[in-house]
Amino acid sequence: MAIRFDSKTNTFTIHTVKSTYQMKVDDQKVLLHTYFGSPADESDFSYLIVPDDHGFCAQPAGNAEDRNYSLDFYPQEYSVQGSGDFRIKALKAGFGGRVPALDLRYHSHQIREGKYSLPGLPHFFANDGDKVQTLEIVLKDLYEDVYVTLLYGVFEEKNIITRAAVIENAGDMPMEIKRAMSMCLDFMEGRKELICFCGKHAGERQYDRRTLQYGITEIGSNRGTSSHQHNPFAIVCDKNTTEDYGKCCAVSLLYSGSFQIQAEVDQFEGTRLVCGVNDDEFSWILKKGEQFVTPEAVISYTDNGLADLSGGLHRAIYDNLIRSAWKDRKRPILVNNWEATYFDFTGDKLMEIARQGAQIGLDMLVLDDGWFGKRNDDNSGLGDWYVNEEKLGCSLRELVDQINGLGLRFGIWIEPEMISEDSDLYREHPEWAMIIPGRDPVRGRNQLTLDLSRQEVIEYMKTSIDNLLDSANIEYIKWDMNRSVDNVFSAAAPELSQGAVRHKYILGLYEVMEHIHQKYPEILIEGCSGGGGRYDAGMLFYVPQIWCSDNTDAIERLRIHYGTSFGYPMSTVAAHVSVCPNHQNGRVTPFKTRGICAMQGSFGYELDLGKLTDEEKEEAKKQVAVYNEHYRLFQNGNYYRLTSPMDNHDFTAWSYVMPDGSKAVLSVVYTDLHANPKPLHIKWKGLIPNARYILEGREYTGAALMQGGIVLPKPECNYDSYMVVANLKDR
Ligand code: GLA
Repeated sequence: MAIRFDSKTNTFTIHTVKSTYQMKVDDQKVLLHTYFGSPADESDFSYLIVPDDHGFCAQPAGNAEDRNYSLDFYPQEYSVQGSGDFRIKALKAGFGGRVPALDLRYHSHQIREGKYSLPGLPHFFANDGDKVQTLEIVLKDLYEDVYVTLLYGVFEEKNIITRAAVIENAGDMPMEIKRAMSMCLDFMEGRKELICFCGKHAGERQYDRRTLQYGITEIGSNRGTSSHQHNPFAIVCDKNTTEDYGKCCAVSLLYSGSFQIQAEVDQFEGTRLVCGVNDDEFSWILKKGEQFVTPEAVISYTDNGLADLSGGLHRAIYDNLIRSAWKDRKRPILVNNWEATYFDFTGDKLMEIARQGAQIGLDMLVLDDGWFGKRNDDNSGLGDWYVNEEKLGCSLRELVDQINGLGLRFGIWIEPEMISEDSDLYREHPEWAMIIPGRDPVRGRNQLTLDLSRQEVIEYMKTSIDNLLDSANIEYIKWDMNRSVDNVFSAAAPELSQGAVRHKYILGLYEVMEHIHQKYPEILIEGCSGGGGRYDAGMLFYVPQIWCSDNTDAIERLRIHYGTSFGYPMSTVAAHVSVCPNHQNGRVTPFKTRGICAMQGSFGYELDLGKLTDEEKEEAKKQVAVYNEHYRLFQNGNYYRLTSPMDNHDFTAWSYVMPDGSKAVLSVVYTDLHANPKPLHIKWKGLIPNARYILEGREYTGAALMQGGIVLPKPECNYDSYMVVANLKDR
């Protein structure tokens, strides 16, 4: 049993294969958090809490006498505003314009088999044969009929605990929620380090590690997307934790909108971590009988370092979050016309690219921005999702039929959440755009955001996507979203509930994406938001891959892929070979290196194939052959970071190993050159130690490859690269 309740000690103990998690209902019926860490037993860990009269630490209701007891320093499971806890809170809610104050005490609980579900929100699910249990703990306010149900999904063998909270107002008075986090996690001991993944457009998810200091450290987004700048994934670890050693805990929030992850080091050096929907501009009114359901958060803990932590998350996300029919299929090697043509294309030009693609052996052509409405630059047309036949010289169906005739599948770009003021849709429905009345709106890329909190906008979006998908043999869509959202206002919402619009927008987005998932289960959807501006676990419930960054430079991508790999499986990374000098930073890299780097994920090309030299065409054919031969490794192998591009300035290396250890591929990109260079070695990971592998005609044991490593060839030019396969002998 992964979840146990001990009625003598009133403790809930949760076990996964690599961790133990414990809560206790104390004498005051407060739900304390008593342990999370290395696998332990069901001892009542509340002995670790040291009652003391610390001064200026208030006593909660009904406990005035015992000055040694204060929720200001007791570790709690779901802290609330108004209970004498002055640290960051999980929940702030109140009535009738009063200061938010609740006092939650244990009410009841239930343990059951299987995983709870969160309708309308992305969530982990159990597959047949998975050992999964659900724990529900209901807390109730001391004074009002307000219930908070804490949900725990325990994936014992996957080492995953999911969390969410359901807040319900059963009383007559409407309640205003000012903040409702998905989870709260109190660590009693020692200073922790926080690893987070920060960045910018064209430079997402850069690994950033810091020691937490007194006060609150916050990463988050208030941009309406999870954002390029921060990512709703973080790791809390010990100072000495490395890839291969040490305690670490990951937190991933399944949410694609504005979010917050906060860590507070309190006065006694305890650390509290909370994450959830960003409370900036947030306010939600709960009337009698209504519920607010937080997005799901996922936690995972290991003693064995960051590689083990990421490996476990990769497997769990792949098996228990991604639903797409394309998950296990070979992802099409595609050519996307964006960097080849930008807006300047015709049907003939697309056919020329497609013909070249067919010769190289590609699987798909993706038609990017500019095919619809009157869209010849980024100032117009968003919202008008009907094809510009004048530009293509034919109907969409005719174009797609011709492309299919070459043996290629067809994919198309859409940006359904946006509206251009110069569009038929805006002329017809200006009230569907989010604009604060009487103010000139803040625009991003000269576009406005559709108000997805309105049901009629949701329905319009479903219909326009259905019409598009039904109009031709479209087998892939790239779903883009190209601005940060400010000036949020819904013309449909009554004045007082504007604080709900940001979150309702995300619920609306999920509703449309769920509709497509259900109605067109065979369509491969690639997520995108100006590259990786919405790269989060929430999205992966609807799409199996995401355009990782608008930066296609192979060398900058090393850091982007490295950072992304901590929280997300590499099969979710879309990466393309583009032209040199690179369009984003002007760098020149060998064609071979661009291919090796792009094979870190779902592979493709994004350049004018007609302009490739004969030599490059031959290299492209080889790349296609390599990807086709080893796609199982690239898509579903165990991924290992072998060096860090943040620390090693000479080369970056990574590998994939088949889950059964039968085959592995190692890739290296050299990032510096030296005269009279020292020999470079690299150690493999994840092989079977006592098995024999053949590598470039030579035999090694797995132990030799992992403990001794191999000697890397000398780089022959700037940004040279190397890829080598190890096959298990006698297979
Ligand atoms: C975003 C995407 C690009 C491309 C353009 C088209 O920036 O990330 O790949 O699709 O939009 O406008």
